[in-house]
Amino acid sequence: MLSPEDAQRVRALAGTVADHDGEHPLNEDATLALAGAPASVTHHLRELDGDLIGYAQRNDSHGTAQLFVHPAHRRRGIGGELLAEVRGVGVWAFGNLPAAQGFAAANGLLERRRLLVMQRPLDPPTGQRFDGVRPFTMQDADALLALNAAAFDWHPEQRRFSRADLDARLAEDWFDPDGLLVTSDADGLTGFHWTKRHPDGRGEVYILATAPRAQGTGLGKRLLAAGLEHLAAAGSPSVHLYVEAANARAVQLYERTGFTVVHSDVLYGPDQPSQEQ
Ligand SMILES: CC(C)(COP(=O)(O)OP(=O)(O)OC[C@H]1O[C@@H](n2cnc3c(N)ncnc32)[C@H](O)[C@@H]1OP(=O)(O)O)[C@@H](O)C(=O)NCCC(=O)NCCS
Repeated sequence: MLSPEDAQRVRALAGTVADHDGEHPLNEDATLALAGAPASVTHHLRELDGDLIGYAQRNDSHGTAQLFVHPAHRRRGIGGELLAEVRGVGVWAFGNLPAAQGFAAANGLLERRRLLVMQRPLDPPTGQRFDGVRPFTMQDADALLALNAAAFDWHPEQRRFSRADLDARLAEDWFDPDGLLVTSDADGLTGFHWTKRHPDGRGEVYILATAPRAQGTGLGKRLLAAGLEHLAAAGSPSVHLYVEAANARAVQLYERTGFTVVHSDVLYGPDQPSQEQ
């Protein structure tokens, strides 16, 4: 566990790196882990004359690490030393910047996973109605979780979306039942599109999922369009989303709907993933 002082030094170093690179080197989860004491997390600090110049965090529950070096102390092997300490797990490269690409190549790391942010402007609402698409009610909760688990059974994080995760989000200020659209047939829910409006008005395709039995029927496209119409009617000027690059069918649907990739995060991993992954 980090002392509060060390946690603050790591935040400050991450801020310096973010200012220099234009990309924050720690994600929200890893930033929260600086203050908490998750058993699966280890911290690795590099100092020079009492100053913090490098940091790595390894999270064994995710099988990943995040590491960064002060801009004035790069190309001196510090990144390589930190990497040796978190050896065996994948390392996130947020923004996949050139330094991270060169560093990964020099250390024999290969791309293991790529997360895309896709975005498009929103047109004014058309007033189009979508028959059979209705807002979520609490009676849909269990079916929505089951559908999510079935649709994302391959996804490392999303398949674990639990009742507690759902309840936490339903209690958030941004939650709007009219923005969580569902479809059903005689056998239950067939799909849902959960949209989110950020405080600055930007819209997000938060979760889009169709039941395996309903896939390939055009339902995803319809639910996507219904959610975008909802966001446009609420006044959002743009909409973005997060998607795995390997999810080719989803990426294709979004491209055909006018989304383009605006950002990539890459997980680099060893050629032979260790048992620890
Ligand atoms: C990526 C990062 C951690 C590298 O740290 P570092 O201390 O400079 O790394 P090292 O000195 O161990 O570099 C080892 C080798 O990686 C390669 N490399 C490092 N930075 C590079 C760059 N900007 N361009 C091309 N290759 C680079 C080089 O081959 C280097 O060896 P060399 O200096 O003898 O040519 C650092 O640039 C950083 O903090 N970036 C922001 C955070 C980040 O992207 N982290 C994800 C890492 S996958």
